Amino acid sequence: MPGLNVNHFTYHAADQSGTTALGAALAELLPDGTTVALCGTLGAGKTRLVQAIAEAAGVDRREVVSPSFVLISEYHGRRTICHIDAYRLRDEDEFDQLGPDEYFESDSLVLVEWADRVKASLPRERIEIHIEVTGPASRRFKVIAVGDRYGEMIERLEAWSSQADL
Ligand SMILES: Nc1ncnc2c1ncn2[C@@H]1O[C@H](COP(=O)(O)OP(=O)(O)O)[C@@H](O)[C@H]1O
Ligand SMILES: [Mg+2]
Repeated sequence: MPGLNVNHFTYHAADQSGTTALGAALAELLPDGTTVALCGTLGAGKTRLVQAIAEAAGVDRREVVSPSFVLISEYHGRRTICHIDAYRLRDEDEFDQLGPDEYFESDSLVLVEWADRVKASLPRERIEIHIEVTGPASRRFKVIAVGDRYGEMIERLEAWSSQADL
């Protein structure tokens, strides 16, 4: 994006325990008020990663489902997580009518599935996570910091992955 620094971190999960570990690291390292744009095909693992983040923040994982009818869910654990799924939205106007700015401007961690569909409505400074299916149980996560605010977080994720016993 022009004018904004972009910084990224790539993580390979060999299986779901890798995804759980990444979720725990993100639950700890994502600053309050961060919006995370989750991108990837159906079944890539967007909801699974939200579950991992929420569970690490003390939310019962069973509370976390793809919000198919409820477009926005809120979970209250050690931190407040707002989970939005743009899959069923007709268009970006419908998204804007949900009043997402209220969440983006709050201290909540906002996790948006199918974020590529509503990109223009997201905060300019954000984290993007692109998930690629690399095998039946393996996934590649590319965590991208858009804007200066999150550069340090990428460094901390890199430090985490080099220390973690993966
Ligand atoms: N390493 C992994 N990380 C995430 N999901 C995985 C992994 N391995 C297998 N899966 C499976 O992939 C599916 C991901 O589904 P889901 O998270 O609902 O996808 P999305 O929300 O992106 O459409 C789940 O059935 C999950 O069990
Ligand atoms: Mg989903």
